[in-house]
Amino acid sequence: MDTRTKGFNTKLVHAGIPEDTHGSVVTPIYQTSTFAFKDAQQGADRFAGKEDGYIYTRIGNPTITALEVNVAQLENGFGATAMSSGMGAVSTVYMALLNGGDHIVSTDSVYGPSRVIMEKHFSRFGVQSTYIDTTDLENLRKAIQPNTKMVYVESPSNPAMQVTDLAAAAKIAHDAGAVLVVDNTFASPCLQKPLDLGADVVLHSVTKFINGHADVVGGIVVSKREELHKKIRGMMIMLGCNMDPHQAYMVSRGLKTLALRVERAQENAQKVAEWLEQQPQVQWARYIGLPSHPQHELAKRQMSGYGSMISFELKGGVAAGRTVMDNVHLAGLAVSLGGVETLISHPASMTHAGMARPDRLAAGITDGLVRLSVGIEDVEDIIADLDQALRQIR
Ligand SMILES: Cc1ncc(COP(=O)(O)O)c(C=O)c1O
Repeated sequence: MDTRTKGFNTKLVHAGIPEDTHGSVVTPIYQTSTFAFKDAQQGADRFAGKEDGYIYTRIGNPTITALEVNVAQLENGFGATAMSSGMGAVSTVYMALLNGGDHIVSTDSVYGPSRVIMEKHFSRFGVQSTYIDTTDLENLRKAIQPNTKMVYVESPSNPAMQVTDLAAAAKIAHDAGAVLVVDNTFASPCLQKPLDLGADVVLHSVTKFINGHADVVGGIVVSKREELHKKIRGMMIMLGCNMDPHQAYMVSRGLKTLALRVERAQENAQKVAEWLEQQPQVQWARYIGLPSHPQHELAKRQMSGYGSMISFELKGGVAAGRTVMDNVHLAGLAVSLGGVETLISHPASMTHAGMARPDRLAAGITDGLVRLSVGIEDVEDIIADLDQALRQIR
């Protein structure tokens, strides 16, 4: 079935499933490292690109292709490349699209390792970087240099929940001859389509919402144009950070219910955020669905929902945060997000511990910030769990 003109939910369930001689209704797991050629000529033709077909699983595999076709259609892109992890996706994009002497401008509150790998490692190969608050477009304009080749935005950002105007960022990047890359992990294609807003490349840690069940680590990159897709795919093949067929099968399985999961989790998150904001122990709660969020109106314009990520700070700072994390029972104390279960974590000592403290504070990731990934449980139970934990603060 050609799903390209079908609705989002139909694509989620059906896009990418290959025709199978046995009539399998889901994509089978092609658990093979390599594919036999019918003769030497066919092998030579496939390597030369004269004939379509599979060669070797690092280069491509039908189970992985099924996921790639599905996500490319969900993001309205030309093509997708699945990776072993979200960081595999981030580093492959940097490696494919930047050269020594180039410059990247990026959101200061990106996922910690996306910044650390640039500042500590890509810098060794001569790539220069500037990290700024991209919610203020004037900052972005000022940070552009003659050698800027990439603007890299995470929106909403992890964990500061900052929202960047993607259409405006795309225009600024393009006027400077740079590409706009968007990490769309927090929103998922269900709530935001960066390529439709002007971005050139979108990437995900599929570990989060796309898989949604906290049982797989993976990544994916979707490009708007063929030339970008070929560069990124070619680099993935060289770096060897391909997804495995079993991993792809698991992600495709989780993906089918993305819209249902996101809808339920964000309904819960809205209620949890409204409740948190009222609690005497809470200094502030940041959820893009709250009118008090500084970019609430922008999020309303460029997203179709607010998602299920909340960050909050307690009046008692780090000590109070630790008390809450040590006393929750339903919420799991774990990094990661976007699964069906509620998780709580402390970015300053966990996901963003690799960042220098002044950079972390400038990016809005305060010492006492607690991050909550709201799951699909009964909201009354999530709130009751947080309530009893907040009461433990002395
Ligand atoms: C926004 C964002 N991007 C990228 C990553 C990296 O993904 P992975 O852990 O799958 O390598 C994460 C992980 O938490 C993330 O939150």
